[in-house]
Amino acid sequence: MSVFRTKTVEQSIQDAEGGEHRLKRTLSALDLTVFGIGVIVGTGIFVLTGVAARNTAGPAVALSFVVAGIACGLAALCYAEFASTVPVAGSAYTFAYATIGEFPAWIIGWDLMLEMALGAAVVASGWSGYLTSLLRNFGIDLPASLAGDQAVVNVPAALIVLALTAVLVAGIKLSARFNATMVAIKMAVVLLVIVAGLFFVKGANYQPFIPPSHVVEGRGGLAAPLIQVLFGVQPVVFGVFGIFTGAALVFFAYIGFDVVATAAEETRRPQRDLPIGIIVSLAVCTILYVVVSLVVVGMQHYSSLSVSAPLADAFRAVGQPWLATLISVGGITGLTTVVMILMLGQSRVLFAMCRDNLLPRSLARVHPRFRTPYRITVVIGVVTALLAAFIPLAAIAELVNIGTLFAFVVVSIAVIILRRTRPELPRSFRTPWVPLVPVLAVLACVYLMLNLPVETWLRFAVWMVIGAAVYFGYGHRRSRVQVTGEPVLEN
Ligand code: ALA
Repeated sequence: MSVFRTKTVEQSIQDAEGGEHRLKRTLSALDLTVFGIGVIVGTGIFVLTGVAARNTAGPAVALSFVVAGIACGLAALCYAEFASTVPVAGSAYTFAYATIGEFPAWIIGWDLMLEMALGAAVVASGWSGYLTSLLRNFGIDLPASLAGDQAVVNVPAALIVLALTAVLVAGIKLSARFNATMVAIKMAVVLLVIVAGLFFVKGANYQPFIPPSHVVEGRGGLAAPLIQVLFGVQPVVFGVFGIFTGAALVFFAYIGFDVVATAAEETRRPQRDLPIGIIVSLAVCTILYVVVSLVVVGMQHYSSLSVSAPLADAFRAVGQPWLATLISVGGITGLTTVVMILMLGQSRVLFAMCRDNLLPRSLARVHPRFRTPYRITVVIGVVTALLAAFIPLAAIAELVNIGTLFAFVVVSIAVIILRRTRPELPRSFRTPWVPLVPVLAVLACVYLMLNLPVETWLRFAVWMVIGAAVYFGYGHRRSRVQVTGEPVLEN
């Protein structure tokens, strides 16, 4: 079946070396770790902490971060093995192409658009919300129809996307430097929250740490989590179960560590540095998240936390408005790098798909001077800007979670397959305890997916059907990897 033809690992690596489709290798392990932190720390910690603590987990939101962190850690170990074995730009798309076959790989590439392009648009509109509220602090009111959550056309969100597109076109090293500066500011703010916040922590706010569970009425129909519809489970919040529901929500905070793998072709020593970048950035963020969430729920009782800017508002609540302003600035800075690196990852995945002819190959051309895939970057920038400007994103943000979790599941399965089909390949990083760790990764990710609403699953299914139609209408006949498994080197 030609839809399951695979592209050999050797061929993928050879493609990455080729002429006008070749990127510039400049990044180090430290650059990758900073990239990772740049894309991971964002809306999740700056916004969702409040939502999850207040509505589903209480002070035990810190445990929700631990649970989601463990699920991501298991998947990260699988990504690290693949990234060290197939250090090619497409990340999960390339990994699937080497193991399961072309059509599944296409589906994963298509799916990753939910994580990266849609994710970038969602975070850009969050950025616009933060900007609006910060400007309001200074007495500047942007018209509600042009900025913030209720905007008809979200102008700041579109503008930030376009500005970051220009940075991405101008070069990976420039992007890395820009990112490093922004990440330093973001980390300083997160550490400030921890250190300054400790002075305002009150033991009483931790009581009860796991609030008693209660059944919620009215979350039925398409808004109910799939697990509830499948197994007839009553929707409860708080209690031990609430910790897990909270984990499905705060999972968003971890999205991005896998994006590090998309920079494979721009890394000087990818086999060694990609696993370091992936695992270290995830570990650092997990520790920060647990500590920040413990501090924030200690500063303010969970029931009065703000759901739009919980970190900043916790300081306002304890009478420190200037710290709150500082944290808002950090939030804006932090979200900027998230948007930028999600778009960077998106451009590298589509670049790999174009290079394989599954999308127009001319889009994969690299800029002669900047050595970046400028055409595909501009296309992504314009589409993401339009999404951020016109689509009400809050309603579809959970699509980003489901898309990412699906890619994690496939990559974890693919690790087991590649161990069987190509045991001899050099793997400078090996996932420990295969198949146990990949199997646990799959189970953890599927569990989190089941906690997402039915409507998210339906939207996901529709997106995948469109993807399948595009593949059979375009890529299937044009693919460079023909039925024999041998690539066609026509240009
Ligand atoms: N993890 C990123 C964030 O929380 C996507 O914004």
